Amino acid sequence: GCDKMKKHTKRKKPLNKIVALVLLVVLGYMVIQTGSYILSQGEFPILSDINLFRKEADTSLGWNLILVNDDYSIPGNYEVELTELSNGEKVDSRIYPQLQQMCDDARAAGLELFVREGYRTAQDQKDIMDERIQQYRDEGYSRSEAKKLAEEYVAEPGTSEHELGIAVDINADTSKCSSDAVYTWLANNAYRYGFIKRYPEDKTEITGVNNEPWHYRYVGVDVAREMQEKELCLEESVSYTHLRAHETCADL
Ligand code: DAL
Ligand code: ZN
Repeated sequence: GCDKMKKHTKRKKPLNKIVALVLLVVLGYMVIQTGSYILSQGEFPILSDINLFRKEADTSLGWNLILVNDDYSIPGNYEVELTELSNGEKVDSRIYPQLQQMCDDARAAGLELFVREGYRTAQDQKDIMDERIQQYRDEGYSRSEAKKLAEEYVAEPGTSEHELGIAVDINADTSKCSSDAVYTWLANNAYRYGFIKRYPEDKTEITGVNNEPWHYRYVGVDVAREMQEKELCLEESVSYTHLRAHETCADL
């Protein structure tokens, strides 16, 4: 009996050690992750802070067709060359000429408008998100509720088009002109300059973002025209473009 016992414990020992080691590593990893989250955010993380299924955005269709949203984040090595507007806002240099032309033409049509925000750093985006969450918490919402509400208008840091520099929030100078007039002009004309209304009212289920009549995204004139004609949002347009690319390959 004694012999048998000895054999048994001998065989089990290394396995126990491995299990204990794995557990220790996993636990240590969790402690470090949680610790660094607390250090950077000042709060204990909750499950909704992490989208486990988020992937890096696909850049294969070109810089103007990069799709970022809650499911696709900006690639880590993404670089942007910026041009500063007269009011200090910055945008990707490649969209500047057409943005300027659009604003000039809108002004010639009697509208008073300005780029309220162009490029944002990831830190800018985080500050905006934190501020919005705090507003909801001050109104009495729980942390997870506040975050959910904030995400209806603010993209998670690392997933905002503003961080790409190819999106702008355009506002009316409301002392001289109504917001409605500006939003209507943009909705009807921005595509001619390669810009699209990124978060339309009737596509919120697809974009995951509420109606934002001020947020315009550069996609280039050809794509913008097609999106305008077919009433597509960027998620739809990008998936059709991929489908078409596939069909063309199959035809060859
Ligand atoms: N307001 C849009 C969703 C952004 O934060 O990029
Ligand atoms: Zn915006």
